[in-house]
Amino acid sequence: MGITVSQLTGVLGARIDGLDLGPDMNPAEVADLRSALVAHEVVIVPGQTLSPGEQAGFSHLLGGFSPVPFVQPVPEHPEVIKVVKEASETEAFNFGGVWHSDFSFLDAPPAFTILHALDVPAVGGDTVWASMTAAHEELEPADRERLEEITCVHSASASYSPAQQELHAGLSGMDIRTSESADATREHPLLCTHPETGRRSLYFNGTYVRGLRGPGVGDGTESGAAEETGLLRWLHDFTTHIRFTCRHRWSNGDVVLWDNRSTQHLALNDYPGQRRELHRTTVAGTEPAR
Ligand code: SIN
Repeated sequence: MGITVSQLTGVLGARIDGLDLGPDMNPAEVADLRSALVAHEVVIVPGQTLSPGEQAGFSHLLGGFSPVPFVQPVPEHPEVIKVVKEASETEAFNFGGVWHSDFSFLDAPPAFTILHALDVPAVGGDTVWASMTAAHEELEPADRERLEEITCVHSASASYSPAQQELHAGLSGMDIRTSESADATREHPLLCTHPETGRRSLYFNGTYVRGLRGPGVGDGTESGAAEETGLLRWLHDFTTHIRFTCRHRWSNGDVVLWDNRSTQHLALNDYPGQRRELHRTTVAGTEPAR
């Protein structure tokens, strides 16, 4: 029996039925999953029951382990992190609660993220993704030409520098350790080519992109600084516009995989008084390239 892939929107996202995820999947199934994932950018596979070890083993079928800085893993499973907010943590800032692409501040950010829902709210706690290939397709030719010259300065400082430790203190089920190393910066091109599909996209997210470099931008002059601030704001607003998004309401057992090279995402924090727990693994990627 083959798999069924059903598109969820006209832009990105698909649901896959007929797949049993795990470390023992056969190569043809893995190839089908991978091609659906890179084509649709986000895929939802309902009805799974993966232990942390099985989730790590399954992730390896898509590529090597991608390092997870700042967040301590599940004991005994160094590749798995628990994303959890307790019902009592009504005031807490939720993990992943701002638009981002996972760990884009790394030299080689993760290609894919895999999130497995274990205990999700009856309502609320949805995740939203935005397609950066769809955003790229809608750029005006003159804007595209200009943005081609721009490089983004990525850093984890706004989330994981020691000044942000308080931000994470409200999550008792997660062990997030901020560090001075979060202030390190890494530049990646703004317009990138996907290494598997060859499609171009905007490799941008307002959380980890802390600056821009290019003609007339971030060049140390006052006008360069004003241009940089304006362009950062424009890029955030443009790339996260609702027309480029899809939104998933979680059920226990769902496994969602997404491609960080062509999407940004955001976890909604609209479930006070309810618990939410998912397990996350990340699959190694390569250095983003023009
Ligand atoms: C994340 O950003 O990895 C977490 C997303 C979520 O909890 O929905």
